[in-house]
Amino acid sequence: APQQLVDRFGRSIDYLRVSVTDRCDLRCSYCIPKGFRDFEEPENWLTFDEVTRVVAAFARLGTSRFRLTGGEPLLRRNLPDLARRISALPNVEDLSLTTNGTQLVKHAQALRDAGVMRLNVSLDSLRGECVEQITGSDSLQKVLDGLRTAREAGFERIKINMVPMQGVNDGDIDAMVAFCMENGFVLRMIEAMPMGHTGQETRGLSLTALLSQLEKKYALVPSTVRLGGGPAKYWVSPGTGFTLGLITPISQHFCETCNRVRLSVDGTLYMCLGQEESFELRPLLRAGCSDAELEAAIRSAIELKPERHEFVERPEKSIRFMSMTGG
Ligand code: GTP
Ligand code: 5AD
Ligand code: SF4
Repeated sequence: APQQLVDRFGRSIDYLRVSVTDRCDLRCSYCIPKGFRDFEEPENWLTFDEVTRVVAAFARLGTSRFRLTGGEPLLRRNLPDLARRISALPNVEDLSLTTNGTQLVKHAQALRDAGVMRLNVSLDSLRGECVEQITGSDSLQKVLDGLRTAREAGFERIKINMVPMQGVNDGDIDAMVAFCMENGFVLRMIEAMPMGHTGQETRGLSLTALLSQLEKKYALVPSTVRLGGGPAKYWVSPGTGFTLGLITPISQHFCETCNRVRLSVDGTLYMCLGQEESFELRPLLRAGCSDAELEAAIRSAIELKPERHEFVERPEKSIRFMSMTGG
């Protein structure tokens, strides 16, 4: 059996988020500044061979869940080839993808065939003008078409990620619930995190405060089923089977159960979304390190993992944009 990766606080790291590009075709207000140009140079992008090598090393160390992220991961050419290689590795039990959905019509079937098991899709509103306000692009119809294609390709219980913001889309929650009920999607609401400074004010909602209202309105009860590897807590409406997930990094952080680290497109391991501790694997990979050296480097990186994020206390410390690691 693989050896467990355990950090200084006793947490097992069984989930790696793999960013395959820092580019995106959208410019969501909470993620990436308008006009941002400082993208990673292609020569610094890990190749699929290099990514597969890192993933295989994590899998040997006991990590079983892997998620492909961006930026927008479907902008990376031939992504299904990478997915196929990862899903074929020993000990990989869960391979998933987080996408903005704009390219799903083209890629959903190939991703499914390549062994991607689960999809999370970002969608903040069902009103075209609101989506355009948030993402800077007229993308709603493409995402809706993409979701339909993904369902037809065999993806079940697709998760919809919504970031509710005061005065922007907080009035859209009921419509999003109805849409997800109808289509068998899991609705997840996420508290906006102050990552980097996008130059745009986003006032996220405290979901803990909203919960009692939602529980009443939709007759929700806490769910005991674990849906995926992330920090969401779930509620289910027994009548309809509708499932709501809440991700509350601000009002109720979940760092004591954190099980994940992130690999950026340039081969840097980031230990926490809301902290800067990191470890560069690319120099090692390109110097021709052995598998044992790679595993030792990963183990020493995990030693750097901080106890918790610090979005609230010291937002100025956070210099990375969300788009660098796709959440
Ligand atoms: P599942 O495996 O389906 O549970 O996926 P997930 O929720 O881990 O992945 P997804 O990419 O859909 O992320 C949803 C939201 O959770 C994003 O806004 C992420 O930034 C946020 N998130 C995921 N992991 C962490 C974490 O460790 N810390 C914080 N603060 N936010 C996280
Ligand atoms: N705060 C909270 N969630 C964010 N996302 C992107 N930026 C932020 C932020 N600043 C979400 C997107 C996407 C997921 C990967 O991260 O909605 O679905
Ligand atoms: Fe792109 Fe996702 Fe960031 Fe929006 S949240 S700009 S879709 S990476």
